[in-house]
This record gives sequence, structure tokens and C-alpha cells, in this order.
Amino acid sequence: MSERKKVTLPTLFKKVSEGTPITWLTCYDYPTAYLQDQAGIDMILVGDSLGMTMLGYDSTLPVTMADMIRHTQAVRRGAPNVFLVGDMPYMSYQPSVESAIRSAGRFMAEAACDAIKLEGGVEMADRIEGIVKAGIPAIGHLGLTPQSVSALGGFRVQGKGALQAKKIMDDAKALEQAGAFAILLEMVPDRVTQLITERAENCIIMSLGSGPDAHGQLLIYHDMFGLYPKFTPKMAKVFGNAGEVILNGLKAYVSEVTDRSFPQRENWFTIKDEEYQELRSLLD
Ligand code: KIV
Repeated sequence: MSERKKVTLPTLFKKVSEGTPITWLTCYDYPTAYLQDQAGIDMILVGDSLGMTMLGYDSTLPVTMADMIRHTQAVRRGAPNVFLVGDMPYMSYQPSVESAIRSAGRFMAEAACDAIKLEGGVEMADRIEGIVKAGIPAIGHLGLTPQSVSALGGFRVQGKGALQAKKIMDDAKALEQAGAFAILLEMVPDRVTQLITERAENCIIMSLGSGPDAHGQLLIYHDMFGLYPKFTPKMAKVFGNAGEVILNGLKAYVSEVTDRSFPQRENWFTIKDEEYQELRSLLD
């Protein structure tokens, strides 16, 4: 198992003060979590994007709290030392401050998270405040917020116009004042991200497709490795095509089983001759 020191809030703020970018990835399962911890990733987000990447839904909306807890527990078992963030699923916090505190509490108690993330700006600031007052570190999420994809008119860049950009900046300030220790900006123009990062006083600004000037970067793991079959968004860099490697392996398996070149002698188990003879005699 990993020998790393546990990544904590002070570790993250130290990186910010030293000007070292924070690394953050999504993850939804035990073996991938193990590899990410070994690779030295600072933060993992168990995103409700698992609805699309792991469960095959067309959006994140059908994902339940039970889905999130189960995947987050698996990730925690694989990555005990990363800073683990649970993503609050649709309608687990929107109805009220109380629902938000209860859902955040489940993530902490049942999945050993270090923090939670929720989507929305000034209208969700009271949820952030309630969660933080309950002693739970909280991250806000602005820009393209997938749980509101219908209201936003699709998966598109947010804050391209000055007024919309100003609204995102106001939202960021409201979340920071409510106590969010970090804010994720998704698909926000680079110079807007730069302004928000410069103006953040005690808040870590993270970027997903929002430029290089934030305090760190987030990517969706499945996009990095060609593992999401439907599309790869522009903001994702493909660091390796694991999807292609796996597909080629699967095709080879089909072919080798079909032509009987698999399995070979080293791939199966045997019984000793005397045991086999006795077995035969038992059958006679
Ligand atoms: O669910 C998720 O993975 C997210 C990212 C899109 C930021 O919220």
C-alpha cells in the first residue's frame, strides 16, 4: 500500500502559497484510486459524472446518494492518502440547507471523505455556509455545472459575455464568503479564471478547462485515457489511449479462445495422477 503522507487542507494551502499547482482527478473505483495515489495525485473527486462514465446514463441527474457513497468508499479503500472529495448528487442539497448538511455528513461518516463539492453560486451559498458550520470542508463549482445542463442550454462555455463573467465572479466571492475553501471553475474563459484567482483571498481556485492561471487543474479520468466511448471534450488531453489498448486485448481474447490458443498449460490447474485415479474409481 501507499507510503505517501496524507494530503490535508494545510498541504493544499501550502502548495498554493508556494505557487505549486494542485493536481486533481476524478476517480470512481478501487484499482484506479490505488494507481492515482501511487502516482502522487493530490486530490480525487468522486464525481457524479460516474453516472455517465461508469453507469452509462446520458446525464448526471439519475445518480443517487447511495451510488455516490458506494463508489466513494471503494475509492477511499484504494487511495487512503489523497484528499478525497465527494460530489453531492442531484437533489441531495438543492431542497434545503438541512438536506445539504445531512448529505454532506453521510459522505464524511460513511465514505471517509475529506470534503464535499456542490454546484451553484450565490443561491447555494447558504448550503455551503451550513455545511462549513457543521465542520465539513466544502468546495463550490461554477461555470458549466452539469446538474443544471438543461437550464444552461447544453455543455458549453460559461462566462463568455462580460455580464455573465461578472455574475460568475460575484458567485465566486459569495461562495468564498460563505466559507468554501475551494472553488472549481468548469469551462470558464481563461482571463475570467485569472481575475477570480487573483481576487481569491483564502480560497483555492481550481480549473477544469478554464485555463492555466488557477491554483490547480482537474481532469475527468475517463477523458484522459480514452475510456469514455461517446466523446472526448476539447478541454481534455488524452494522456494515453487505454481504451484502445483494452479493446485490442479484448479482441485478442475473443480470437484466442475461438482458435483454442488460449488457455495454455500455465493458465489452468491440475489434479495429481493418484487423486485422479481414485476419483475415477469412485465413479466406477
Ligand atoms: O462530476 C464530476 O466529475 C464533476 C466534474 C465535471 C467537475 O463535477
